[in-house]
Amino acid sequence: MSHLQRFKGFRRDPERKVRESVKIYLDTANVEDIREVASWGVLAGVTTNPSLVAKEGRVYEEVIREIAEICKGPISVEVLALDAEGMVAEGREVVKYCDNAVVKIPMGREGLKAIYALSSDDIPVNTTLIFSANQALLAARAGAAYISPFLGRLDDISEDGVSLISDIAEIFETHAIETEIIAASIRHPLHVIEVARHGADIATCPMKVLEQMCEHPLTSKGIEQFRRDSEKIPRPGMTKN
Ligand code: G3P
Repeated sequence: MSHLQRFKGFRRDPERKVRESVKIYLDTANVEDIREVASWGVLAGVTTNPSLVAKEGRVYEEVIREIAEICKGPISVEVLALDAEGMVAEGREVVKYCDNAVVKIPMGREGLKAIYALSSDDIPVNTTLIFSANQALLAARAGAAYISPFLGRLDDISEDGVSLISDIAEIFETHAIETEIIAASIRHPLHVIEVARHGADIATCPMKVLEQMCEHPLTSKGIEQFRRDSEKIPRPGMTKN
């Protein structure tokens, strides 16, 4: 199996004829958060971008290498160049950081050239900054292993981010396109439920959203009730009042 095949073709299980259930990625460059979520057993991959890496104030390559020690799933690493030639050159460097690096390329004409060049060389690409189904279709046809529609940023301008996920999922399903859909720019737990219902393959979540997904007031209330009642359970050797 080639390097690219390891990242592509996971949308359908040929035996069961169903898509794999939605996978959870962490959208961060914070190593402590990645370690924490990995310990929960739910971490299937990590996505980063220049803004997230800048927040950590650390050298790009160092952070990615450290993330790769924790997460064995795909790690998206965004290129900084704006022209195809520069993106391809950076992409070839990025995949040397770790075995599971995926080159993140911004959508556009230069991006498409870079996606085509890198994927032709078996290098997996995640196309970022997808805001329309047409962009998703072009990126997939150019060879992207993943596309990342940004739903939160669409919601911010009063457009429906979840509908975009749904449109792309329908088009990919109809035409048996194996490119995986990473729902990105997720802002709250309801987004995760909605993208899971509408056919995203992956939800890449900020740490805060994953923490919120764990919580429910009735869970906390129930734990407290059990804790209080557990104090009433007689211990061996305890005398009954
Ligand atoms: O990693 C890309 C994406 O998830 C960014 O999210 O919140 O900056 O729109 P946001």
